[in-house]
Amino acid sequence: MRHWFGRAVLSVSLLTCTSTVCQSQAERSAANALPHLEKRGASTQLIVDGKGFLVLGGEVHNSSSSSVEYMKKVWPQLAAMHLNTVLVPVAWETTEPEEGKFDYSCVDGLIQGARDNNLRLVVLWFGAWKNTYSSYVPAWVKTNTERFPRVQTSDGRGTERLSPLSATVREADAKAFASLMHHLRVVDANKHTVLMVQVENEVGVIPQSRDHSAIAEAAFAGKVPPTLMNFLVQHRASLNPELRSAWESGGGKAEGTWQAVFGSAPLTDDLFMAWQYATFIEKVTSAGKEEYPLPMYANAALIRPNYDPGQYNSGGPLPHSMDIWHAGAASLDFLSPDIYFNDFANWAGAYARPGNPLFIPEAQSGSAAASNSLYAFGRLSAIGFSAFGIDDQGNTPLDLVGITNPADHFDGGALGAIYSELSALTPMILEKQQTGGVTATLIEGEAQRSARVSVGQYTANMTKAGSPSAGGGRAGALFIQTDANEFIVVGGGDAQITFSSDKPGLPIVGIESIDEELFENGRWVRGRRMNGDENSQGQALRLHANDVSLGRVYRVRLYRYR
Ligand code: DGJ
Repeated sequence: MRHWFGRAVLSVSLLTCTSTVCQSQAERSAANALPHLEKRGASTQLIVDGKGFLVLGGEVHNSSSSSVEYMKKVWPQLAAMHLNTVLVPVAWETTEPEEGKFDYSCVDGLIQGARDNNLRLVVLWFGAWKNTYSSYVPAWVKTNTERFPRVQTSDGRGTERLSPLSATVREADAKAFASLMHHLRVVDANKHTVLMVQVENEVGVIPQSRDHSAIAEAAFAGKVPPTLMNFLVQHRASLNPELRSAWESGGGKAEGTWQAVFGSAPLTDDLFMAWQYATFIEKVTSAGKEEYPLPMYANAALIRPNYDPGQYNSGGPLPHSMDIWHAGAASLDFLSPDIYFNDFANWAGAYARPGNPLFIPEAQSGSAAASNSLYAFGRLSAIGFSAFGIDDQGNTPLDLVGITNPADHFDGGALGAIYSELSALTPMILEKQQTGGVTATLIEGEAQRSARVSVGQYTANMTKAGSPSAGGGRAGALFIQTDANEFIVVGGGDAQITFSSDKPGLPIVGIESIDEELFENGRWVRGRRMNGDENSQGQALRLHANDVSLGRVYRVRLYRYR
């Protein structure tokens, strides 16, 4: 029995002595620093208590965190599933039930519950908007439509959505959020239980593509603000192609009304709303950061195929409007996708951009999460992954509204297993994210049978096992390079992997050896030497659907011959 990465862990611990006696002042102040993002080598990482941190997360259902009592049963289940972080809504209606009178008893109970179970939190500020609606605002805001104006449809009807163009709404939301962040600083600045904060939730307008209230109509008829125009001019070369094409097909003007600059298609309404939400959220975020500067982000509901603005959340932080969001909301640290669709790699890839590290606050759970999380951490250097509806593990599902396939959401077993493996591999993944020594590949859905990725000087070719009629299902594999010819491979799903040279022609690539490594009782132990039928007579690495639940990874050594 042998620890395959014992040496790596040992050398890391020698460098970062953890005992208080030998900790240097620099190490102590690094450990005391607030959770923050830091560029480390090729990746941007979340740093917590002085060390890199991968969020192995889950988001509770929308109403769960309104009750500290309810959450008492949930925390231990989540800890047992090997989560290290829970994403919990905090609602404006709960923190400021009367104007100017704040109540943080629920927030304090959530922080205590997380601490008691050795969990961290990401707080989701359900302020002015949650899924386009303003259903989480306090009654004193909700019922006073004169003071807090709403988004209107083109026929002059109000909707249950506060207008992002309203300064009164903005100031009230920013004040409540700043108060929350002040409270978090008071109760948590020396413990760092709360790691990050999401500002609002899945903003945008439906069912029409923009707000038609009087103030919105006036802004839409006016000029595109110079701050945005200057940003577009300065970042022209790196702009999202859809945005750039809308701008350039109208002549690439440096000044003009929204329709003069971006054209008269519905996309322009979306870009206009994106600017309104971004600049609103900028005010809220910066007010909060002045009190307590944790990393903050906004999340997006993605677009179903062939949906137009207004059918999807018009103005949300979508790939085509990310530049507008970056220009309007510079205080946000990143923008995030909520990925419930099957084409995970495309959507996740669209958000893993220079200057926008990838964090996935909501994703489908179940077996899909195993492969998807491997791809996010391995290929896209994600700082975190979180499956939605996590508190249903072991419980009767609470509220299935909006969830079309419960089986995709409520298989805590697969997610717990992959998080157990990922938490054991975290130090290596974080180290290798910095140098490009970790990657991953993903097969999605029934139509796709194979995928390939460069791993060092080799190419890994993954093929789904079984016949196409045997059904789809996804498969993913994460590769950690330990030397020029050796990789640790973690796989989710049924597949086999062959290896070839990254260049055409000779030499041929052979498998020197494959060893099974098992994560048991908190440590890695050597399992079987895989050969014969178990590795297709030395020609392939075979991955199985139950590898993850068995805590199994493979150490693969390759060689070259002519
Ligand atoms: C996306 C939202 O952001 C969540 O709060 C929740 O409503 C889910 N949809 C439901 O699937």
